[in-house]
Amino acid sequence: MKDQQITSTSAFAQDVQEGLTSFPKFLSSKYIYDEKGDKLFQEIMNLPDYYLTNCEYSILEKHTAAIADQFNSDNGFDLIELGAGDGKKTKILLRHLVAKNYDFSYLPIDISKYILERLEEALKEEIPDLEVHIQEGMYFKVLDKLADYNHRKKVIIVLGSNIGNLSHEKAIEFLQNIQEAMSDDDMLFMGFDQKKDPQIILDAYNDKTGITEAFNKNLLARINKELDANFDLEKFKHWETYDPETGTAKSFLVSVEDQTIEIPELDLSISFKKWESIHTEISQKYTDDVVEWLANQAGLKIKEFFTDEKKYYKNYVFQRK
Ligand code: AVJ
Repeated sequence: MKDQQITSTSAFAQDVQEGLTSFPKFLSSKYIYDEKGDKLFQEIMNLPDYYLTNCEYSILEKHTAAIADQFNSDNGFDLIELGAGDGKKTKILLRHLVAKNYDFSYLPIDISKYILERLEEALKEEIPDLEVHIQEGMYFKVLDKLADYNHRKKVIIVLGSNIGNLSHEKAIEFLQNIQEAMSDDDMLFMGFDQKKDPQIILDAYNDKTGITEAFNKNLLARINKELDANFDLEKFKHWETYDPETGTAKSFLVSVEDQTIEIPELDLSISFKKWESIHTEISQKYTDDVVEWLANQAGLKIKEFFTDEKKYYKNYVFQRK
């Protein structure tokens, strides 16, 4: 355990050092998610402006039976979820599958044992007849291990448009890793946020309550906490852009004055010019063509998709090519 902590802290430290000494400066959004960041993201999912969660929820609710029908096979199936979180959306499917007596088990994968144990507890209470086997670890290590699990159909699900945090190049790698763990009958079910009115996208990442701002600034708070730095969060401004051509929403933190930050754990001081930026996150928006291209590059094809009334969001069913 201790070893693990040291390696993960130093990966964080190394990435912070690399990002803040580069020009232009950047930090990876994956480091937003410590305990505080997880909580802030939960709050984001409850924001009316953050339409993604509601759209996906309504897709799962409206098309439950048709989705279950896609998942089904003669010998049953294993439903493997990458990054289950609190399972709020997945529970819609799980309840239906249990109520209709589908022969399946549910295998949520997460790196956080804490999250998995809480989910397991909740499911025991809420859906007692569900067969759950939690899988702690990195997605692809666990997927590898599960490649021959049970020798029946695997349905891999990834909700939340989490793929949007990846560049197209990394997204293809991600999909390819999944594809490699799939057999011909297996299925991937995945959410992709779609291009839409640019104002709606900007509002989703720029809410007036300041929760997204706090979420973005949690990167700085975490550097303060774990690397003993002295970022003043008031001296950075949350800034969101959306490029309707590429479909990329980008988050930045912008320094509102000339300032120098000390990071004792890295033995480093970092200077910011007034209005200098740190790029922190991308949230990619997709079209069918782009999803089809990404899938194709990764050896997958689209079999079916489900969308909400406004077509803001789509859940695609993929199979191996
Ligand atoms: C969890 C990656 C889907 O990019 O929409 C929410 C994270 N960032 N608000 C997204 C996020 C700012 C979210 N994902």
